[in-house]
Amino acid sequence: MTQDELKKAAAIAALDYIVDDTIVGVGTGSTVNHFIDGLATIRSRIRGAVSSSEASSARLAAHGIPVFDLNGIEEIPVYVDGADEIDARFCMIKGGGGALTREKIVAAVSHRFVCICDATKLVGTLGRFPLPVEVVPMAGSHVSRALTRLGGQPRVRENFVTDNGNLIIDVSGLVITDPLALEAQINQIVGVVTNGLFAARGADVLLLADSGGVERRVRDANMTATRT
Ligand code: A5P
Repeated sequence: MTQDELKKAAAIAALDYIVDDTIVGVGTGSTVNHFIDGLATIRSRIRGAVSSSEASSARLAAHGIPVFDLNGIEEIPVYVDGADEIDARFCMIKGGGGALTREKIVAAVSHRFVCICDATKLVGTLGRFPLPVEVVPMAGSHVSRALTRLGGQPRVRENFVTDNGNLIIDVSGLVITDPLALEAQINQIVGVVTNGLFAARGADVLLLADSGGVERRVRDANMTATRT
């Protein structure tokens, strides 16, 4: 199977987690695009979606799925999104597509985060994928210097503006042994909107696709992942 076929298999498996007659939280990326296409096939079972990017909103709308403003929504039972890396405790690096801030906001409002990935995304230690950081443009140099002091090599993503009008700085060279602490530390740098570590709010369910099928793992209250 190709990597794209694996992404699709994980995405379709996520349809099992949709709660009927509710609003679905929808992430961003190539894996989520398959999920949105799958969601269209059960469109009549849901009220609509809250989206984490302009790109996902456009794809949802093209399928005739109503897209709601998060401010008018009180409850999102399930949020479905991909990841650039995920570890055994379901902490993630996200933001390869630059949508990390809205993804983090929608995830924060959602009861259950279902992460859909092909097996290449599961890692022992986060950090080989450069960590995306969304930054207010005038703070780019200041934030880059601070990220260098943390041991990373920051690089402003070229020709890219986020949906919120900001920069993305991709930070390579980080070995992230304590994702929770680093997420908080980077968010303390003035000018940072947020960073792509999803540790304070990690995933609850991981649907991991390889050539043998889609493995379903669930994280319990002790942050221990078990296969189901
Ligand atoms: C978007 O900004 C990201 O957080 C994506 O969720 C992540 O990059 C996974 O993308 P793919 O599904 O395209 O691999």
